Amino acid sequence: MILGLTQNARELDPSVISLFDDTVELDIPTPEERHVILQTCIMNHGMSFEFETSSIGNSQSGNNGDTGRLKDQDPIKAIARRCHGYFAADLDALCIQASIVADQQGRGMDQMTVEDFLMVMKSIRVSALRQSTSVQKVDSVHWSDIGGLEGVKRVLEESVIWLYKHADAYARMGISPSKGVLLYGPPGTGKTLLAKAVATESEANFIAVSIPDLIKGEVGESEKAIAKIFRTATRCSPCIVFLDELEAIFGTRESSGGLGKQLVSQLLLEMDNCGKGVVILAATNHPEAIDTSILRSGRLDRLVYVPPPNFEERVAILQILKEKTQFSDAVDLRTVSNLTSNFTGADMKALVRKAGLYALKASRVRSGTKATMSNIEAQDFFSAAIDIQPSVNQLGLLRYEQFHR
Ligand SMILES: Nc1ncnc2c1ncn2[C@@H]1O[C@H](COP(=O)(O)OP(=O)(O)OP(=O)(O)O)[C@@H](O)[C@H]1O
Ligand SMILES: [Mg+2]
Repeated sequence: MILGLTQNARELDPSVISLFDDTVELDIPTPEERHVILQTCIMNHGMSFEFETSSIGNSQSGNNGDTGRLKDQDPIKAIARRCHGYFAADLDALCIQASIVADQQGRGMDQMTVEDFLMVMKSIRVSALRQSTSVQKVDSVHWSDIGGLEGVKRVLEESVIWLYKHADAYARMGISPSKGVLLYGPPGTGKTLLAKAVATESEANFIAVSIPDLIKGEVGESEKAIAKIFRTATRCSPCIVFLDELEAIFGTRESSGGLGKQLVSQLLLEMDNCGKGVVILAATNHPEAIDTSILRSGRLDRLVYVPPPNFEERVAILQILKEKTQFSDAVDLRTVSNLTSNFTGADMKALVRKAGLYALKASRVRSGTKATMSNIEAQDFFSAAIDIQPSVNQLGLLRYEQFHR
């Protein structure tokens, strides 16, 4: 009997595949399977748990509230529940790392705590979300890196992040969360940035789909890729699937070509059939170009407008940019905000960059040939504000506001 193993069955020559009577695909473990695998790993390493309230109560990792709740549960189950998207190898790595933590604290394998596992979970890189080619890695952005947009942050927190934070409560109360959220608004208002913050918050439960990777390849491959993404999402659920620049492929079925039509149909199919724990987050700056069937109830039915910042929000954005650049203390952020009506977040970033260049130029004049960076002065902002124009005009804004209504 021949038993063949491969990581990628698609790359095998069909004649090789035909030699085998049967093919079995090993997918990402479901939460129940994860529990069993983790149990086995823990047993193989000869580990057991010790429940000393003191070690949980004096937790160092800032997870006190969580561990407090976990204390009442089966420890292995509690850990397994949090390992979204973990493969067996990841679970094993988790055990090894956790034992190192326990060892560093002078405890043996028979005195493990849930805390040890939670602590190392942050440093484990999950294989499931890494293996797919159309999945992107997103850099870490926190809510505090985004100025203003409080209303939008709240909606995302409630409709997307709560899904995995309060998965139990949703299940208990029998409510199904909104299936999808579409962020729309003028370019540069921070839609992608918001999605990155959601990704950071949700850790492994986030699949950012790279649309260029999705549409390249052979005929039929894109549909398969979409199906695979949703299958992964369902298995790792609760999970968020993020589709940026949605209009690029999911424009109206009439306006997009044959490929577009098939992709839209495939996406609709997946949206209707994916597991309850899957939420779709999408972003676009052409909401009117999106096929209306995607926006119907039960699909991307929550439309959230991401507007350009108002006066106070611009001050908040400047405050964030100030922390990353060197502003002179004399610069009054409210004055700069006054200079920048109708600017988007991206325009503000461009303004600060330009002001920085002016500051650099000025310091070069002062200190001869070798430029030494000095702080950005108010004057630099005035000069930069003349060069940088808002990227969205009133007419463009009106279009979004009309759609908003
Ligand atoms: N509210 C904000 N707070 C802080 N920075 C912001 C904000 N909005 C935008 N920015 C800055 O502008 C940059 C561009 O924003 P982003 O890429 O999120 O815009 P977008 O809405 O996705 O635009 P597009 O529709 O063109 O994709 C960000 O990387 C960020 O530096
Ligand atoms: Mg974007």
